Amino acid sequence: MSSVEVRSVTKAWGETRAVDDVSFSVAKGELVVLLGPSGCGKSTMLRMIAGLDEPTTGMIAIEGRDVAGLTGSARGVAMVFQSYALFPHLTVSDNITFGLSVRGTSKQEMAERLARTAALLDLDKLLRRKPAQLSGGQQQRVALGRALIAKAPVCLLDEPLSNLDAQLRQELRREIRALQQRLGITMIYVTHDQTEAMSMADRVILMRGGRIEQNGRPAELYERPATLFAARFIGGAPMNFLDLDDAPLGAVIAGSTGPALFAGPGRGRVLGLRPEDVAVDSANGRAAFHATVTAVEYLGGEALVSCSLGDRAIQARTRGDGAPPIGTAVGLSWDAAASHVFDAASGERLTIDTGTAATSPQLHTVTNQGQIRA
Ligand SMILES: Nc1ncnc2c1ncn2[C@@H]1O[C@H](COP(=O)(O)OP(=O)(O)OP(=O)(O)O)[C@@H](O)[C@H]1O
Ligand SMILES: [Mg+2]
Repeated sequence: MSSVEVRSVTKAWGETRAVDDVSFSVAKGELVVLLGPSGCGKSTMLRMIAGLDEPTTGMIAIEGRDVAGLTGSARGVAMVFQSYALFPHLTVSDNITFGLSVRGTSKQEMAERLARTAALLDLDKLLRRKPAQLSGGQQQRVALGRALIAKAPVCLLDEPLSNLDAQLRQELRREIRALQQRLGITMIYVTHDQTEAMSMADRVILMRGGRIEQNGRPAELYERPATLFAARFIGGAPMNFLDLDDAPLGAVIAGSTGPALFAGPGRGRVLGLRPEDVAVDSANGRAAFHATVTAVEYLGGEALVSCSLGDRAIQARTRGDGAPPIGTAVGLSWDAAASHVFDAASGERLTIDTGTAATSPQLHTVTNQGQIRA
């Protein structure tokens, strides 16, 4: 049985469909991230699971039970808001136990659960302080504590780290993930940050315009993006997109005379290549694609090398100390398996056998009979 099941849920405000026929399920103990750009419907989806909004149509079940009309606590969900929403006049302890005291939990049980939660989140020494006397990260942990102490089977988090600096975000996302795994909590986590999604999630649900673009494990989204949108959204440095064209031997990069990338038509198709999959060879000798370095972005351990390939631009990633200087003539190559091909009009991924491509002349040769020989 799924912990959370969302079936054909739509939320409309007048003409706007903030969430449009969305279905997914979350298994017990799983961390699922709802990922997508601003306005794609992430918060709306989460609020409907939390019971703060009701769907226009469709069904939400939690632990096998249709939860229409039930409040958040009756549904067994706890939610952490982006804004923390702490009570400024209450101490950390009172903020954490607020929900329990409202529900009339006994003093002794409350004290025990508070002690356990505070120890878990390393808040023991801060319990008497007021929120204004805490750092952003500490406030965030209090908000998290308030959700965890409820012992709700399902925990919902809406951009919980968005107000924090990069280092604190990284620390806290590790902490949240460790805690979620240790306690076996079912978690739905909303973010627009793909790094956060990829590093924390068991599964990522990528949304766009109220609909699901792709639902899969982080590695599936990275290795086999289902659409151009998914390919653009996932990954550290942006994927390169190169329009393709027809040539006698097969599909070639538009504006070039080859070599052919795969047999069949190229026009109306787009080649996607991640910078980390493009190798730069300063010797310029044997690689199939001749290019010129136009810019280098040094990032320490690695560098992003921008090149012009005919009249197209393409980025490659090298070691930080391995970037050739601007103006160098280089050879570019990549594994045929690293090519992603999409239909330009629909944006859909195409299943094309690029295994016989001629992108790496060490491995393949295009013969003048028009056949590709390994
Ligand atoms: N109460 C409302 N009334 C009308 N439209 C709304 C309401 N709440 C949200 N919307 C619209 O629904 C769409 C989805 O909003 P939502 O808050 O779910 O986006 P989001 O993915 O959480 O974005 P963000 O990353 O900016 O928080 C947006 O177009 C928004 O303007
Ligand atoms: Mg939101």
